[in-house]
Amino acid sequence: MERLTDSFGRSFPYIRLSITDVCNFKCGYCLPNGYFKVENKPGFLSLDEISNLTSALTELGVSKIRITGGEPTVRKDFFDVLKNIKSKHKINNLVVTTNGYKLNEIAEQLIETGINGINISIDSLNREKFKEITGKDRLPQILEGIKILQDKGFKKIKVNAVLLKDVNSTIEEFEKWEEFVRINAIDFRYIELMQTGDSHDYFKKYHISASVFRNYIENKNWKSIPRENSAGPSINYIHPDAKGKFGIIAPYSKDFCQTCNRLRITAKGELRLCLFGNTGTDLRPYLQNENQKEELVELILKQLNFKKESHYLELGDTGITPHLASIGG
Ligand code: 5AD
Ligand code: SF4
Repeated sequence: MERLTDSFGRSFPYIRLSITDVCNFKCGYCLPNGYFKVENKPGFLSLDEISNLTSALTELGVSKIRITGGEPTVRKDFFDVLKNIKSKHKINNLVVTTNGYKLNEIAEQLIETGINGINISIDSLNREKFKEITGKDRLPQILEGIKILQDKGFKKIKVNAVLLKDVNSTIEEFEKWEEFVRINAIDFRYIELMQTGDSHDYFKKYHISASVFRNYIENKNWKSIPRENSAGPSINYIHPDAKGKFGIIAPYSKDFCQTCNRLRITAKGELRLCLFGNTGTDLRPYLQNENQKEELVELILKQLNFKKESHYLELGDTGITPHLASIGG
């Protein structure tokens, strides 16, 4: 049953659910000074609230949930959250986005929990550069975690990097990734830097069009492949010598929003129709009791009528998003 459709014919079987704003990294483009607690109350959605929420979402035809943050694995009940969502039969695709900081410790448990995929952020394969961008010297642990996942036969691994001018946009960096996807059956994608409320100066200094990477791979004979129906916003490339794929996520490109298939819910239970929208709808009052499910379903359906055709990023309108840790990428 697909009840979640908007006025532009897009449907939304896919929800990105943030479970915390807290993050232990200090990525220059997101939380350059680290995470600061804004206020104590209300806290992030509890396990029960998340459970009520996902039950309602399944009624709306949602089958895929991505758990994001902040850094979702910092939550003490992270695995309880995963298990709870996994127990809803209509969710057949549960995936996690992480900065991977303790992937080596939790890789096995992640597989045991039955997640269907993982996205890991690695902004550079150069340890020094990685540290410079994220503020943390964690690259070895992340790579070790990936190795454990691979050794256990886990296949759905994606790696993202935010493309930063003169930091990781060099031929040397591109070559490292090319070697990585040649030997690993892992998809690697560069995301073009997006401007958020807090990052105007950073954006000016570091934004570079993803065409630098596109030119590089096209010259090296990588071929773009058609988008799959349920796929995300990435344009993907394959090469006969490579086990993995390359991808480019370019939010400033024309038509980026046309294939939008996701809605976001923040860690405090606000429904966000677009990463860069100007409104959020507080779902929390409807998450307090299992028997509020129908009301919640109606509210979400009503809100979807307000989803706009596109973001207005190209006009410099970043909406109410100060940084992506506040909305879950
Ligand atoms: N622009 C582009 N990508 C960003 N991310 C966080 N902030 C930004 C930004 N301003 C990325 C992270 C991670 C994903 C969840 O979002 O690096 O890969
Ligand atoms: Fe943390 Fe992700 Fe933001 Fe980096 S981009 S500070 S890992 S939430």
